Amino acid sequence: MNTAVSTLPGITLFNLTGRTALITGGSKGLGYAMAAGLASAGADVMLVSRHGDQAQSAAAGIARAFKRKAVGHAADVTMPAEVNAMLSAAERELGKVDILINSAGINIRGPICDLTPDQYDQVMNVNVKGTWLCCRAVLPGMRARKWGRIINLASALGLVGLAGRTPYTASKGAVVQMTRTLALECASDGITANSICPGPFLTEMNLAIADTEDGRKFVVGATALKRWGRLEEIQGSAIYLASDAASYVTGAALTVDGGWTAQ
Ligand SMILES: NC(=O)c1ccc[n+]([C@@H]2O[C@H](COP(=O)([O-])OP(=O)(O)OC[C@H]3O[C@@H](n4cnc5c(N)ncnc54)[C@H](OP(=O)(O)O)[C@@H]3O)[C@@H](O)[C@H]2O)c1
Repeated sequence: MNTAVSTLPGITLFNLTGRTALITGGSKGLGYAMAAGLASAGADVMLVSRHGDQAQSAAAGIARAFKRKAVGHAADVTMPAEVNAMLSAAERELGKVDILINSAGINIRGPICDLTPDQYDQVMNVNVKGTWLCCRAVLPGMRARKWGRIINLASALGLVGLAGRTPYTASKGAVVQMTRTLALECASDGITANSICPGPFLTEMNLAIADTEDGRKFVVGATALKRWGRLEEIQGSAIYLASDAASYVTGAALTVDGGWTAQ
């Protein structure tokens, strides 16, 4: 067996030039930050959200900043027909989809007895079914090309519990498990599947708790670093998992959580 490292490609390991990425939930928050990160590494990107105008203006900002092709598209990830149309649009605009980031997600908080079955369904539909539908849509093309990267946004709350978050924790645990299973299903096709488990980042999703006791407890009590994550601090994980640097990484749940789950 030859154990020598024949080349040390260094920085090219993280180069995404020639790659194309579809990012659901790309109009804002973590999805937008990751889309910008991939574009900064050389990828062309399509940003998706239900509000096409927001996705388009976010994409225009990325195109201007990084001189990459970046387009916006309106789709609701819970609707199979819209997911299929999204894939067609991505293939038309980008030529192919090498990288899928499922960042579209919602959270509805409250003690279990205060929540309705409809609220539970809403969270599961977007976070689990939407992720599942988008993975399912991109896989045939990735399989045909024998290369693909699937990156699903789970959460630290997919790994540990938190009172008042039953639908969300259930959905994110499901994303971690779905991603592991997908990694097994598509390993022989040159496709990796990994989840990212962020800790608290101050995006729109968390505005409601930002100035509350609950919010402060999150940040100071729950994280070793005792602060919110900054949006740019999610970018490295997405670039890494999308790139050749992570070619031997699949089925992982990568925490980017300020040490939340270390405690
Ligand atoms: N922020 C955090 O602290 C944190 C921590 C752990 C995990 N996460 C996860 O990271 C992901 C991104 O969160 P974020 O904080 O960036 O949230 P955000 O700022 O609220 O953004 C959510 C994105 O998802 C889109 N979206 C929501 N429902 C959709 C649907 N049905 N179809 C298509 N797009 C939809 C939104 O656009 P439209 O409303 O226009 O559709 C928006 O682009 C989520 O999966 C979240 O659970 C976040």
